[in-house]
Amino acid sequence: MSRIALVTGGMGGLGEAICIKMAALGYTVVTTYSPGNKKWEEWLATMKEQGHEFHAYPCDVASYDSAQECIARITKEIGPVDVLVNNAGITRDMTFKKMDKAAWDDVMKTNLDSVFNMTKPVCDGMVERNWGRIINISSVNGQKGAFGQTNYSAAKAGMHGFTKALALEVARKGVTVNTISPGYIGTKMVMAIPQEVLDSKIIPQIPMARLGKPEEVAGLVAYLASEEAAFLTGANIAINGGQHMS
Ligand code: CAA
Ligand code: NAP
Repeated sequence: MSRIALVTGGMGGLGEAICIKMAALGYTVVTTYSPGNKKWEEWLATMKEQGHEFHAYPCDVASYDSAQECIARITKEIGPVDVLVNNAGITRDMTFKKMDKAAWDDVMKTNLDSVFNMTKPVCDGMVERNWGRIINISSVNGQKGAFGQTNYSAAKAGMHGFTKALALEVARKGVTVNTISPGYIGTKMVMAIPQEVLDSKIIPQIPMARLGKPEEVAGLVAYLASEEAAFLTGANIAINGGQHMS
């Protein structure tokens, strides 16, 4: 029986590439979409036309109850989750001077609380089955900070603290927990940055002088999910075109 991979936010730029890669490797791929997303059926249909059969469930990853309910449905209808990719995330960029509590809370809940919310209902099962992969999609901006992103950088840095602590707790149980920190990847999240900021402040900081491709990150997710990566845990793997080396 094929392993089940759950990718949160699988209908976004990075998530879609991860879903496609995991399906190509033979995983049963399940994704989540925001309860307000009206385009999920259209997305599933488009994917099907392209030969990809995915399962999709509504889930507000920022809500503990929604996450519990979603995982319970997936477990009952598809099976237990073997690989969890915590990918869903948002930005609410503004300088700290302008940042209000709502912009802070939205980002902390969606990008950091979500990691707890989604991991909590799958982790015990992975431990009991002696196999599991938890892959957290953080960001170069969690490693180095970014102008206009006190909320996002804090949440993304927090994800890696979670990774390291949980990796210790489940290391002897066949479960690995890792963080991927992508640099700027050409998805709608990055396209929301004002073009002049992208051209004058961001691209010049990337030694490869280009944005990354979602498929490049998907390849790394696939590796971390694989058997070959069984000895790799608690790591934060940068994939950023040389923008930040630590
Ligand atoms: N570095 C230094 N100064 C910067 C700057 C930067 N990166 N960006 C803006 N500024 C400066 C401007 O030059 C301007 O300076 P002056 O007042 O001296 O002219 C000042 O900041 C503007 O400040 P404001 O408070 O008026 O801010 P604004 O309304 O113009 O917007 C901003 C500021 C929200 C930060 C906007 O510039 C922006 O969206 N920047 C992009 C932030 C970014 O990189 N986000 C990443 C999104 S992608 C992502 O998050 C994926 C990932 O993980 C990599
Ligand atoms: P994207 O295209 O905007 O996709 C984000 C996804 O997150 C969407 O599918 C969205 O689902 C989902 N999402 C947002 N809020 C949600 C919520 N409350 N509940 C459930 N799902 C929610 O962004 P992306 O570029 O692919 O980013 C994916 C991840 O990579 C994010 O965590 C981001 O921070 C990280 N990242 C991106 C870059 C980059 O340069 N693009 C770099 C580093 C890290 P709906 O559409 O259904 O709302």
